[in-house]
Amino acid sequence: MTEPNKPKAPAAMPAGLRLFVIAGVMVVVAGIGAIAALLTTDRPIGAAREGQSSGTPLVGGAFTLVDQDGKTRTQADFAGKLMLIYFGYTFCPDVCPTGLQRLAEGLDALSDADRVQVSPVFVTIDPARDTPAVLKEYVAQFHPDLIGLTGTADQVSVAAKAYRVYYRKSDQTKDQKDYLMDHSSIIFLMGKDGTYKAHFTHESKPEEIAAGVRRALQG
Ligand code: NI
Repeated sequence: MTEPNKPKAPAAMPAGLRLFVIAGVMVVVAGIGAIAALLTTDRPIGAAREGQSSGTPLVGGAFTLVDQDGKTRTQADFAGKLMLIYFGYTFCPDVCPTGLQRLAEGLDALSDADRVQVSPVFVTIDPARDTPAVLKEYVAQFHPDLIGLTGTADQVSVAAKAYRVYYRKSDQTKDQKDYLMDHSSIIFLMGKDGTYKAHFTHESKPEEIAAGVRRALQG
C-alpha cells in the first residue's frame, strides 16, 4: 500500500551523501589538526632562530632526569640560577664536542661571581648508550661545573620536547652498533625563573655566550 500524501522528511539525506559529508568534515578537522601541529612545532624553532627580537619562544619546561652521579634531577633543582642547556650525545664526532667546548670557554670568560650563578647542563638524546657513568667521564672533559643528564627514553623525550629539540637515529647508520644521531644543536640560556633568555649554537663565540649570560644577570 502506497502513501502518496505522506510528506517527506525535509532534512533526510541519502545515506551515501551523509557518509560523504561526514567524511568531508573529518578531512577538514584532520587538516586543521595537522596545520596546528605544524605551527606548534615550527613556531618556537623559527622564533629561536630569529633570536630575542621575535618575542619569547615557547622553550623550556618540566623534566625529570638522572645526573652523572645517578641522582634524580628535575627543572626545579635549577631554579634560582641561570641555566645553559645543550642537548647532544657523547658519541657525537664533532658538533657536540664543539658546542660543549664553546659553552665551557664561555663559562670561563665570566667572572667567578657571575659563573657561580650559572648551571651548565648537557642532556643526552642517546640514553641507550649514555649512562650516568659514561656521562660522568664525558662532562669532566669539558668543564668541572658541567652537569650531565640522562634517563629513560621517555624521560629524555619529554625533556627534548620541552626544549623543542629534534633528534633521531641517522639513516646512514641505523643498522650499525656505532650509530650516529641527527639532532638540533642549540645552547639555550634560561633565566633564574626557568624562562627562555637567549640561545647560541656550537658556532657561537665563547665571548657571545658570556655576554648573553651577563645580560641575563643584569636584567
Ligand atoms: Ni652532536
